[in-house]
Amino acid sequence: MPRYALITGASSGIGLALAEALARRGRHLILVARRREALESIACELTQRFGVEVLFRVCDLANPLQLTGLLHELEEGDRPIDLLVNNAGIGTSGSFLAHEWSDEQRLLELNVLALTRLCHGIGNLMVASGGGQILNIASVAAFQPGPWMSSYYASKAYVLHLSEGLREEFKEYGVKVSVLCPGPTQSAFFRNADLDDHRLRDGKLMLSAEEVALYTVKALARNRAVIIPGWRNRLAARLPRLLPRGLLRRLTGRINRSLEISRR
Ligand SMILES: NC(=O)c1ccc[n+]([C@@H]2O[C@H](COP(=O)([O-])OP(=O)(O)OC[C@H]3O[C@@H](n4cnc5c(N)ncnc54)[C@H](OP(=O)(O)O)[C@@H]3O)[C@@H](O)[C@H]2O)c1
Repeated sequence: MPRYALITGASSGIGLALAEALARRGRHLILVARRREALESIACELTQRFGVEVLFRVCDLANPLQLTGLLHELEEGDRPIDLLVNNAGIGTSGSFLAHEWSDEQRLLELNVLALTRLCHGIGNLMVASGGGQILNIASVAAFQPGPWMSSYYASKAYVLHLSEGLREEFKEYGVKVSVLCPGPTQSAFFRNADLDDHRLRDGKLMLSAEEVALYTVKALARNRAVIIPGWRNRLAARLPRLLPRGLLRRLTGRINRSLEISRR
């Protein structure tokens, strides 16, 4: 029976690049996101180019009812998943207090709760079917506090620590867990979070989503625990251990403020 890699947030950016990199290696895929048309055309293209089976499910993962429906379908269905890529995630920028609570809640539902629930639900399915592999997407933001993007940074710190904890727990069940911590990457992420990425792009400080995906699939094959593409990003992940915490908070806050685009 064929096995599938399930990728959340596969309709653009890093998730799409990971889908392509995995299809290129002959993996059958189940793609999940909200935009039906994007998923449809990606599934069609990857099937044609790589001859793999590509299914897709439209699901708002920040909606607990829709997430329950997806998990139920996966539990009842006959498409075993041996790789889960928990990639879907969003950011918010600017003053925590100025945000609508619904925006904060959506971030937590998606970045934290949906990811954790998929690790639990699909983790159990993997154990029942003899094992598998989970890749969670955190960020270099996971290594430090991030004023003016406080809940985003905190959500990614959660993902990093959850993943490392589960890696140890799941060993005895034959499920490998890795966490990807990208730095700034070319995608729709910045625009969607009201952040201006022009200076990062101009300064060539961003990797492409394809570079991140290529590095990641190689690291996954070696079962690396914490995957950080790019030397600048590996350095950025180390800095919080070297700098005084107060200085780090102020510096990060200043950078985040400078990237903010005020909402109209
Ligand atoms: N870009 C960066 O600089 C960067 C750096 C570090 C970490 N990351 C992390 O990388 C991951 C991917 O981000 P990206 O940069 O590739 O951004 P992106 O291009 O905006 O992709 C986000 C993906 O998540 C999906 N998504 C958003 N809300 C969703 C929801 N409620 N339910 C289901 N799917 C949802 C989007 O699809 P639909 O709109 O179709 O639902 C899209 O496929 C995120 O976890 C992000 O935090 C990004």
